[in-house]
Amino acid sequence: MARRFASQVPFYEYDESQFFRTDGAPEDVVAARRAGFQRLSQMFAERFQKTAALTGEIAGGVSDLQFTSRYRVPFQFSSYVRQRFQAGSFLESSSGVTVTDLDGNRMYDLTGSYGVNVFGYDFYKECIDRGAERVRGLGPVLGAYHPVTAYNVRRLQQISGLDEVSFHMSGTEAVMQAVRLARYHTGRTHLVRFCGAYHGWWGDVQPGVGNPLAARETYTLKDMDRASLRVLRNRRDIACVLVNPLQALHPNVSAPGDSTLIDSGRNAHFDRAAYAAWLKELRAECSARGIVLIFDEVFVGFRLAPGGAQEYFDVRADMVTYGKTVAGGLPVGVLCGRARFMRRFREDRPADICFARGTFNSHPYVMGAMYEFLTRLETDAMRALYRDLDRTWNSRTQQLNDRLAAADLPVRVANLSSIWTIYYPAPSRYNWMFQYYLRAAGLALSWVGTGRLIFSLNYTDADFAEVADRILSAAREMHRDGWWWSEPKLTNRAIRRRVFKEMIQARWASTSPMGSISSPRIK
Ligand SMILES: Cc1ncc(COP(=O)(O)O)c(C=O)c1O
Repeated sequence: MARRFASQVPFYEYDESQFFRTDGAPEDVVAARRAGFQRLSQMFAERFQKTAALTGEIAGGVSDLQFTSRYRVPFQFSSYVRQRFQAGSFLESSSGVTVTDLDGNRMYDLTGSYGVNVFGYDFYKECIDRGAERVRGLGPVLGAYHPVTAYNVRRLQQISGLDEVSFHMSGTEAVMQAVRLARYHTGRTHLVRFCGAYHGWWGDVQPGVGNPLAARETYTLKDMDRASLRVLRNRRDIACVLVNPLQALHPNVSAPGDSTLIDSGRNAHFDRAAYAAWLKELRAECSARGIVLIFDEVFVGFRLAPGGAQEYFDVRADMVTYGKTVAGGLPVGVLCGRARFMRRFREDRPADICFARGTFNSHPYVMGAMYEFLTRLETDAMRALYRDLDRTWNSRTQQLNDRLAAADLPVRVANLSSIWTIYYPAPSRYNWMFQYYLRAAGLALSWVGTGRLIFSLNYTDADFAEVADRILSAAREMHRDGWWWSEPKLTNRAIRRRVFKEMIQARWASTSPMGSISSPRIK
């Protein structure tokens, strides 16, 4: 459905005359927005000159850059913004909780490197350097294992509480292997995933928008919903259930990105007890039906607790995937599972195997950095980082929200431990502009903008206080520039209705013979 709908959405965009007034704001507000936009755009041009220039040189030849730069803001605003805010996609160095670009701008890092950066960049530099020294004698020899791998296997067994381990090159591949094995051992075809959950970009776990094919052996069910348990109870073709515990922050909603921020409908709230209770029900149902329960901890593993989401929510899975951070900053995917689900052959049917390979699996350098990562986790200093983790991040979130509320600013944050999302309590069409104000305040965000901020655990109170001050002053500036102008008639519903109307108009214009010679821009 979503894919079919997405294929019908027509392209149109706002020009100079429409850009600042799509919500019907009065002239003085439009003028304030225009002035603020020009000031910011000028600042970007001066401040990010070298970084933007090098990005511009290669952008035409790098598909990923073209994609991410296009989808930073809602498409109607995208090209106008792209031409005027070129911050660039290069960085020169990292240190502490900051990164520095080619122009020497030092920014607080809120990207968390897609979740890889749990303990701070210096920690990972050490893991990579020491790990490389440790395995240099063997170098890039593949097939046989470097001895550090033996320790890694043992530690991963302890951490996961599961019997066997397999190494892969990305989180996506670890998930692929988990599902393949579940199908092999249950003799059933279908996987269950929950609405909005990301499990990598393999076709079967990504039905809908983004995948040109329908995922025919996938059921997408409603998260935290009893009706989904009934489906597990009644169907006979379900091999496994995939859970991405990050969804606890926004059940049934995809990872929030600013490109879909057309109104202020984004919301998030984490209830640890409710999610733990849901996982327990899921566990019981899977056990009763012989369905393999897979926790996909590629994102949250090692971030919430030393034993990951299993420990944090006190629920055991049959298989667990890890990735991102676990190889000390190098690329990896790990699958841990119960022996009876991990076996790739049958004793009594020698030709009936479940195949999995990968040239770079267990690469010595990856194993070396993983060894450094896992040994460091055992130290008291690292264990101390997990102490009071939730209390620390919940109180930081609360303090910032209190300050935002006291200043009457329509910005709030919700968190799952150190993973944040910004949401906007008052209806607006321009919330996505906030990412540029934050960038101007020296805060580095990933391409999904304010949808996801990821803190590393080495943020001290002083670092955090500085970030909070900057978020506040960025919000004040955006407010002063009129972007959050509001009136009673401007509801989220009214905004969505207007955008829908524009789409119908644009679609009509692009298909009618009259429309084909007129401008596709909305009048
Ligand atoms: C929960 C989860 N599973 C799987 C993946 C895919 O991992 P990778 O990007 O290493 O393929 C991700 C990546 O963000 C993830 O968050």
